Amino acid sequence: MRRALTISALATFALVGTLFIGSASEANTNPKSAAKNVTYSKDVAPILYKTCSECHRPGEIAPFSVMSYKEVRPWAKSIREQVVSREMPPWHADPNHGVWENDRRLSKAEIDTIIAWVEGGAVEGNPKDLPAAPKFESGWAIGTPDKTFSIPEQSIPADGVVKYQYLTVPTNFTEDMWVTAAEIRSTGRAALHHVIVYIQEPGNQGRTDGNLLAGFAPGEQPAKYRADMAKKIPAGSKLMFQMHYTPNGEATKDVTTIGLRFAKETPKHQIFTRPVLNTGFVIPAGADNHEVKSSFTFKDDAHLVSLMPHMHLRGKDFQVKATYPDGTSKILLNVPKYDFNWQTYYVPKDLIAIPKGTKIECVAHFDNSVNNKFNPDPTRDVRWGEQTWEEMMIGWLSYYNDNGSGAKPMDRPMASVSNKGEQK
Ligand code: HEC
Repeated sequence: MRRALTISALATFALVGTLFIGSASEANTNPKSAAKNVTYSKDVAPILYKTCSECHRPGEIAPFSVMSYKEVRPWAKSIREQVVSREMPPWHADPNHGVWENDRRLSKAEIDTIIAWVEGGAVEGNPKDLPAAPKFESGWAIGTPDKTFSIPEQSIPADGVVKYQYLTVPTNFTEDMWVTAAEIRSTGRAALHHVIVYIQEPGNQGRTDGNLLAGFAPGEQPAKYRADMAKKIPAGSKLMFQMHYTPNGEATKDVTTIGLRFAKETPKHQIFTRPVLNTGFVIPAGADNHEVKSSFTFKDDAHLVSLMPHMHLRGKDFQVKATYPDGTSKILLNVPKYDFNWQTYYVPKDLIAIPKGTKIECVAHFDNSVNNKFNPDPTRDVRWGEQTWEEMMIGWLSYYNDNGSGAKPMDRPMASVSNKGEQK
């Protein structure tokens, strides 16, 4: 889609260029006449459908829908501003490190098309030129789930602090199930900070020791795995929903549901998600660039399928580096301007091979000074904690072990971490 669009945009510009060959001076003095040929229906809708509709459609998190000209037109100037500044679409990975399958960034040609459209009066053009609108089945981006599980309705007060809620829902699965896609939807989104759903295997009563199944936070895309790989929910497992509600001035109710799609046959690879974290840090009051590290050494050959940094409001930047057994190292992911409002996981275009003995090191910086406009309180030392005014330092890794499906992701992740962040 992207390639096709770029070509059609180029063709448009080439055509416009040809028209002006005989009157170069007119072309130079009146660039707006060139822009007139760019229309919503033909040039802009394909970009918005492809890149923005994920969030800018009815029932999603963004403030307006891009699904029709009527809805888009009032936002034209703001759209130009947001795409030129690259505030939209939200994307925070440094393009110098890694190539990402889910990269949302617009190409230069796409941005130029939007600028030309707005400067030409943001015209509609011929509705017959519209591409087919993307289809969203009953709101699920993963398609209609094979199975859904919901928590009982929760009441969120108008104010105060709500501790994490842990709610278990039985799956009643009598055989192992392999999840190829998972999506979380909530009715009380306005007061929802995040959801993490863990797989609680039979006999495991721990809250978060199990394999992470899926998460939801603003900007987080549903999990979809490639062919040949999936997450396993063993027979008899329960799903443990970790709910973090943040009262927003209005009492609200919430029912959160996870939708799952299953593999038709046992896949080749079992995906695990583990945190590489440091819980032992103290960020001094006022510190504007406090460094915290965490690391984990792989004991088996593995392949990384996604990476995701997680910090709270003082998080500033985050880097994930691999040091290979031969001593060489490589930056796998660099997020130079971390933004707590966008929890993005990064899916490498080509899976990242991790030979056994590779050390994954995460390096984060925190700004606990007055310069950080999101800082809830620059006069306090800050430690690990669940609430947003406390901090976290986690590099989430999803991966499979090359040597088979049965390998365990970790034993007791929290307990195995030292204050320096090296995990066993
Ligand atoms: C991952 C979700 C997501 C994607 C993708 C996305 N947006 Fe947004 N957008 C949002 C959210 C959420 C807001 C509200 C942000 C806020 O209030 O800070 C927003 C805000 C905006 C605004 C500003 C609205 C205002 O209130 O001033 C514009 C304009 C915009 N988006 C345009 C776009 C365009 C154009 C694209 C595609 C090229 C896009 N967005 C892609 C989620 C998204």
